Amino acid sequence: MDSAFHLVDGELGAEAVPLSAIAQAVGTPVYVYSASRLRSNFSAWRQAFPQAHIAYAVKANGNLSVLRTLFAAGAGADTVSEGEIRRALAAGCAPEHIIFSGMGKTDDELRFALSLPGIQINVESEPELDRLSELAARADARPLVAIRVNPDVAAGAHAKIATGQAHDKFGVPFDQTAALYRRAAADAALQPVGLAVHIGSQIADPAPFEAAWIRLRELARNLRTEGLPLTRLDLGGGLAADYGAGAPTPQLLGDLAVRLFPPGEFELSLEPGRSIVADAGVLLTRITHVNQRGDGPRFLVLDAGMNDLLRPALYDAVHPLRPVRPRPGEQALHDIVGPVCESSDRFAGDVRLPPFEPGDLAILSAAGAYGASMSSEYNARPLVPEVLVDGERWALVRPRPTFAEMLSREPLAPWL
Ligand code: LLP
Repeated sequence: MDSAFHLVDGELGAEAVPLSAIAQAVGTPVYVYSASRLRSNFSAWRQAFPQAHIAYAVKANGNLSVLRTLFAAGAGADTVSEGEIRRALAAGCAPEHIIFSGMGKTDDELRFALSLPGIQINVESEPELDRLSELAARADARPLVAIRVNPDVAAGAHAKIATGQAHDKFGVPFDQTAALYRRAAADAALQPVGLAVHIGSQIADPAPFEAAWIRLRELARNLRTEGLPLTRLDLGGGLAADYGAGAPTPQLLGDLAVRLFPPGEFELSLEPGRSIVADAGVLLTRITHVNQRGDGPRFLVLDAGMNDLLRPALYDAVHPLRPVRPRPGEQALHDIVGPVCESSDRFAGDVRLPPFEPGDLAILSAAGAYGASMSSEYNARPLVPEVLVDGERWALVRPRPTFAEMLSREPLAPWL
């Protein structure tokens, strides 16, 4: 975990840059990303799937410099909103390498996608197909369409991020997909090209992927046997990242794909997010103080809060804390908390850590995925900035807004 972040002369650095230098220049809290780690994570996917279209899931981390690094390495983009499509385009992704997923696309978003030739629109329901057909006919566009199947497979992930069972809101029920595909094929305004599946996130076990992909393959082969055009299979994302307990490599899924999909039968695409960016990022934070309550808990109070990294509060996620310059001394149990005014602003409880003094720096590990992208200004805390490191170089790739900027975004109602 965090191998791009290692101790040099007793202090944690990001690649060749000491984290203390970044903290001094930018302040804390701040997300720090390793470009080398982004590239090596992407290249693990490339090696596992040499022929596939690897569409990085922008929602995991949509920072423009992160996107540009991955697109330069050969990634495409999986997007779920007009905003994400615009980010992908701004960072240099060609429309034909963009997949537009999502189960609640608005008419405006569909119209925007229809203006981008070559983009693949993954349709998730019958009403969406009807709206897309009407909008496409009006725009005189013939979009490439894939139908997202709900394979009714339990992914074993946290319930809030599992998406592949019949009761989930995602995808077309397995037994209705063929009929919907036939309808799309008969529609002059649409160009169906394939099927898609995505069963959830933080999945370490290959079994649910296998179950879902077998169902997808069966459906695709049946539709092809009917003579329908179907060349693409989008196998989704969801591979687990390493939060301290280890994680499989993309090769696990690559080997599975080799077993299930004979070369040349389908053009495969994937939508990995977390497994590419999670361990390429950390949240760098400063200890505000240590509050030892008599015999009670010893609170390690950080200057990072749940508004900067929501995952522990929302999913009980674990992001192990490491001191940037570990102090010698006896380890003790700590509760790690942020400054936000609710008890859910807690990163971990009862963790054994070396001593800390106010002002010490620490990192919350493996925070590159769904960290900055889910951050907010709750408690009127400035949006957390982001830094990209590449070897000895580093750059501030999203500055912290000033309080003046934050206030100026809100015009007062004219009658006040
Ligand atoms: N494709 C689709 C259609 C998705 O919905 C997602 C994630 C992905 C790809 C990428 O999945 P990944 O490879 O990153 O697992 N905020 C949550 C995760 C939500 C995932 C939503 N969909 C978290 O912080 O754990």
